[in-house]
Amino acid sequence: MAPVATSEKQATDIADLKTHAADKLFNPFYSPPDIDDGSSDYKFADFKPSFPNLSWEPLKEVEVTERALHADPSKKNLLSAASKVTHLTPAIGVELEGIDLRQLTDQQKDELALLVAERGVVFLRNQEIDIYQQLDLARHYGPLHKHATTGIPKNGLEEVHVVYNDSSRRPDASAFAKIDLWHSDVTYEIQPPGVTSLKVITGPEVGGDTLWSSGYALYSSLSPGLQTYLEGLQAVHSGVAQAEGNRAAGLPVRRKEIESVHPLVRVHPATGWKSVFVNPGFTRRIVGVPKAESDAILTFLFRQISDNPDFQVRFRWTEGSIALWDNRIVTHSATFDFWPATRHALRATPHAEKPLSVAEYEKATGKVAKDRQIEVWKQLGVDVATGNGASAGSSKSRYND
Ligand code: SIN
Repeated sequence: MAPVATSEKQATDIADLKTHAADKLFNPFYSPPDIDDGSSDYKFADFKPSFPNLSWEPLKEVEVTERALHADPSKKNLLSAASKVTHLTPAIGVELEGIDLRQLTDQQKDELALLVAERGVVFLRNQEIDIYQQLDLARHYGPLHKHATTGIPKNGLEEVHVVYNDSSRRPDASAFAKIDLWHSDVTYEIQPPGVTSLKVITGPEVGGDTLWSSGYALYSSLSPGLQTYLEGLQAVHSGVAQAEGNRAAGLPVRRKEIESVHPLVRVHPATGWKSVFVNPGFTRRIVGVPKAESDAILTFLFRQISDNPDFQVRFRWTEGSIALWDNRIVTHSATFDFWPATRHALRATPHAEKPLSVAEYEKATGKVAKDRQIEVWKQLGVDVATGNGASAGSSKSRYND
């Protein structure tokens, strides 16, 4: 009878494993961390996520001042204070060295907002800024957003969004595809956030990088016919799946979930550049077109966001580094390649304006909304009509293989 006993034991072991796995495995995007590794001597224990049973009123439209519109266009006060400015790719991302975010004047903060609007994301390393100062900086840009479902720190700071994963949360590759992780924060809100900051306070030795993808660059990559078509469309952004994720985990939803309709191409009020405004995390369908057409267009745009490296920058976090991105014109994705290490980050984010379509922007400002790539080429002296640059004229192939 030994073989039977063995197979019974095997069956029990497999059942145990399955139960264990069901407890432990998670989709990092929609599964909030209701447990953690329980370490009590952790220095940031007060900032671990908690899910108090709070109930907030629905958000109403609020007035926001676009600080980047108050910036000196040359950004000289900010850039002259930096010891080094490194552009990380042509489309997106810049690293500033020699700046202490705690010391910025209001003028420099406005210029930082303009730099973030132009480059999509700005990185600074070795920053001593704490979460209270990070919240103050965010407040300079607008009223702070409070997330309805994700964890807030145990110390009760309601405006902070906590990103926390440790050995107790093993990402389950069968629960999500990598493309699903790409998102802009809370785009289902009436006024989704603008200048957003994230500081990783505990990170793995290696891994846990974050990637950002430029909505300006995605727009610029499309044919003129498709650009014009998309400019006339609106899409539904939904907070339902995040709220359901909380309910499935037995956690409260602090504000009733909503869906909002936003333009599919929005214009940044400070740069006047057009940006594709959809993301796999929250954009569900295009309004007023056949479902098959909506699915095909969104799938194409989502794939471009996640697959096209020309639009992207990838940041390797080091102790004290902070990223500030303009959530209106970039999407981002964390990597979740670091389990079982701990990664803990704190995010502060202000509401921005209600997204402006091309027609709304042009009507409100009397200006023509622009394609960023064309504007950058013009600044470089490129003849946009012929594609010839200052060094054009050579008949040599530009391939370099
Ligand atoms: C976020 O999605 O807001 C956080 C991104 C990250 O954890 O890198």
